[in-house]
Amino acid sequence: MRALSALNVLVMALCGVSQIRGLSLLQQLPEVHGDKFYYFGFGSNMLAKRIHIKNPSAKFLGAALLKNYRVDFSLPSKFWKGAVATAVPTFGMQTWGTLWEIDLVNLPDLDSQEGVHLGRYRPVSVKVKLRSNDKEIPARLYVITKEPKGNVRDLPSHEVPLNRQPSKTYLRVMVKGAMESGIPKKYITWLKGFKHNNKTVQQLEDLFELDSVEL
Ligand SMILES: *[C@@H]1O[C@H](CO)[C@@H](O)[C@H](O)[C@H]1NC(C)=O
Repeated sequence: MRALSALNVLVMALCGVSQIRGLSLLQQLPEVHGDKFYYFGFGSNMLAKRIHIKNPSAKFLGAALLKNYRVDFSLPSKFWKGAVATAVPTFGMQTWGTLWEIDLVNLPDLDSQEGVHLGRYRPVSVKVKLRSNDKEIPARLYVITKEPKGNVRDLPSHEVPLNRQPSKTYLRVMVKGAMESGIPKKYITWLKGFKHNNKTVQQLEDLFELDSVEL
């Protein structure tokens, strides 16, 4: 009896320790400051209305540039009816996105939204540069674990395979988010011209008011 309760105490103590260790590990991440962290969204999460659905605490900090990554489209999504945006480490290329500040308590939620536990994405700490003041800020980025074969970033439209095309709805969300965030025109023009599969998701078109978004 005494041995059992001693064991219980030990187990409880260990659990407590691991919880504290988990928290202090998070606090050591460069993108964490106090009870907040910085997150870099480059796909649908450039759009405020979109990120606020699951992350209502996200606060807009501005358009930001990520160096040595390219945006590609690879993972198929039933929800969006096409390929979704993916950041792939690529020397010399650049990706624009939106920098958000989110409550630290929501970090595990964001990890699970991104499918970290499924091995789809892994979180990395990167440095991005805010467009407004050139300040370098450490941010959390989700990188695809299975890198797509070939680079469709700068392929001419007719050469982008169907399984690498986003839906019209997804591309419109990105364009709307990029415009709203103040991302440079040149990047938005590239986005608008990217080959899409012409599929739309009506309830998302309505929710995000995409009618007026021209591609
Ligand atoms: C795209 O889809 C619309 C219907 O949603 C259709 O009218 C149009 O012809 C399609 N365009 C192409 C290029 O397939």
